[in-house]
Amino acid sequence: MSVQILLSEPDVSRSLLDWYDLNARILPWRTPPDAVSKGAAMPDPYGVWLSEIMLQQTTVAAVIPYYERFLARWPTVADLAAAPLDDVLHAWAGLGYYARARNLHACAQAVVRDHGGRFPATEAELLKLPGIGAYTAAAIASIAFGQRAVVVDGNVERVVSRLFALEEEFPAARPRLRELTDSLTPDRRAGDFAQAMMDLGATICTPRSPACGACPVASGCAARASGTPERWPLKAPKAEKPTRHGLVFWLEADGHVLLRRRPPKGLLGGLPELPTSDWTATPVGNGWHLMDQAPTEAEWALVPGGVRHTFTHFHLELTVARAVLPRRINPEQGFWHPVAAIETAGLPTVMVKAVRHALTPRLV
Ligand code: ADE
Repeated sequence: MSVQILLSEPDVSRSLLDWYDLNARILPWRTPPDAVSKGAAMPDPYGVWLSEIMLQQTTVAAVIPYYERFLARWPTVADLAAAPLDDVLHAWAGLGYYARARNLHACAQAVVRDHGGRFPATEAELLKLPGIGAYTAAAIASIAFGQRAVVVDGNVERVVSRLFALEEEFPAARPRLRELTDSLTPDRRAGDFAQAMMDLGATICTPRSPACGACPVASGCAARASGTPERWPLKAPKAEKPTRHGLVFWLEADGHVLLRRRPPKGLLGGLPELPTSDWTATPVGNGWHLMDQAPTEAEWALVPGGVRHTFTHFHLELTVARAVLPRRINPEQGFWHPVAAIETAGLPTVMVKAVRHALTPRLV
């Protein structure tokens, strides 16, 4: 398949870097553009790694307060490695995709154990660490160590497929897209180039209405020349996500609510939750067929409405069943947590939604 480009590859990377020098977003894990060639220290690999792990699947605005809290609490990779896993999961609560937090902790421990507390500088060595895949290894090698590496994230995919008006559909287009990105990546300042691509994708070459008038490489962009740049990237139709349904149990006594811990492996592994029934394809209805999964016998009542949450592979609709006991029983499973301090429990977002729903006063 032929692809066209209207500016030469070095022109594209030069124009992008010139644009980045003036327009780079100021972000707490960054050094200013081109600062390193002017004698500034390289950014701390620990901060670069931490930000890149947090930024997977999460927006820059959502990540910044988490990033700052993590760095204040664990200023070095050794501090993070020494922290109890539970504290790290707790501090991560709300960012989602909790396997990332477990891998984060495992990676910090591997860096201390196998590399004397210093991140390795090459893509190949970085790739061997827990939670570091092709994207993250290339991002750290280029941004923190100044190596030439080809960094491809969702923004880069969009920008490059537009520049070349790539007619192959994603995900099949990925290998070709990587080659094209490689052809644009400069030998010097590959980290700045990658971040320039990301900033361009986040602020100008946006998914729906790209601001081509403000784009430093518009004159070289085949998608823009076509008149419909938002048509790219082309995507193969996705399978619909299934919806699962279940009951979640709010059991209250003496100002406490019953929580339990999820199994260590799998979805939301090791995190606290309100007890729930199995999640199945059948809508809950009046819920009675699920009541044998309640944590105890009680006068359960369903809270009208429900909560919806979307995970990577499915939507979940939870109905809240509520009961109050005259006093705390010794639970078969789980532990009591003060309702007034529910925000300190480290619940994942889906459970925070369920708690809010259980506690919302209702007009009867
Ligand atoms: N998204 C992922 N990594 C990023 C970075 N270093 N700068 C801006 N956005 C990003």
